[in-house]
Amino acid sequence: MTAADLGAGVDARAQGALAGRVVLVTGANGALGEAAARACALAGATVVLLGRRVPRLQRLHDALAAIGPPPAIYPLDLLGATPADYAQMATSIGEQLGRLDGVLHAAAEFQGLTPLQNTEPSEFVDALHVNVGAPFLLTQACLPMLRRAPQAAVVFVLDDLQRVGRAYWGGYGVAKFALQGMLRILADELENSRVQVSALQPGPMQTGLRAKAFMTERPGTWPPAGTYADACVQLLAGASREHHGKVWTPAVTWPPATTPVATIDLPMAAPAPERSR
Ligand SMILES: NC(=O)c1ccc[n+]([C@@H]2O[C@H](COP(=O)([O-])OP(=O)(O)OC[C@H]3O[C@@H](n4cnc5c(N)ncnc54)[C@H](OP(=O)(O)O)[C@@H]3O)[C@@H](O)[C@H]2O)c1
Repeated sequence: MTAADLGAGVDARAQGALAGRVVLVTGANGALGEAAARACALAGATVVLLGRRVPRLQRLHDALAAIGPPPAIYPLDLLGATPADYAQMATSIGEQLGRLDGVLHAAAEFQGLTPLQNTEPSEFVDALHVNVGAPFLLTQACLPMLRRAPQAAVVFVLDDLQRVGRAYWGGYGVAKFALQGMLRILADELENSRVQVSALQPGPMQTGLRAKAFMTERPGTWPPAGTYADACVQLLAGASREHHGKVWTPAVTWPPATTPVATIDLPMAAPAPERSR
């Protein structure tokens, strides 16, 4: 599926929209993160793959190296990472890759639907930390480099606040509201900079995260995460500032329209003569 299919107008991958740029993707082993990382590589970016499972990062690294500029992996557990860890990460990217042009925050922590009354306090706090604290800390550490880039982008990934602002969505739901607040505040602060701050709000996607909330849903009910990969590239490219400070939900047709099967009008076959017994 191309961005044109999404109603986005251009196929950002085909146009090399990220040629020569360095972008960091968190949750690179997740469904959306991996699809976006592949699309960024196809669009010409050097992708820094951030995740916590090294063998899977290594496999993705090899896959990206075959389709785009050599990527880099940066293993980090967002739950335990400190400001010093993020500072170290930014320094490494600067020293080894020389620049940073974009960050896509695709990581998310969600343990499943639980009433607040029954939620383990540590689970609630962890969800807030990974889903909103970590994006803040990572963005803060990267901002000096992003500000130096000719055209940079920070992309948060939201969820439908109508849905996750309801019963049982716990720390994940609360964090998505906070993330929308951070989008607005940061976009305002960077209004006169070259850094575009935006958010992607994908519709439901058939991923492991969704399956934790909707366990009985049949496969194929919702589009795969790759459906939104071109949208990630477009937001990271930040070519126009039309998305600055805004939440974008690309239009998706699902299931994709199938090509109609050609039918030919044939003359009705004459009924077979009855056999005499
Ligand atoms: N799926 C949907 O229907 C849907 C709808 C709207 C919005 N979204 C948003 O889309 C984004 C991507 O979601 P997804 O569906 O692709 O989920 P996913 O497949 O579960 O991916 C989430 C990723 O976050 C990583 N992660 C979680 N905790 C981490 C930590 N402490 N340190 C490092 N990485 C960590 C996971 O790492 P591991 O692989 O190591 O577990 C995983 O790779 C999320 O922001 C989500 O809120 C999803």
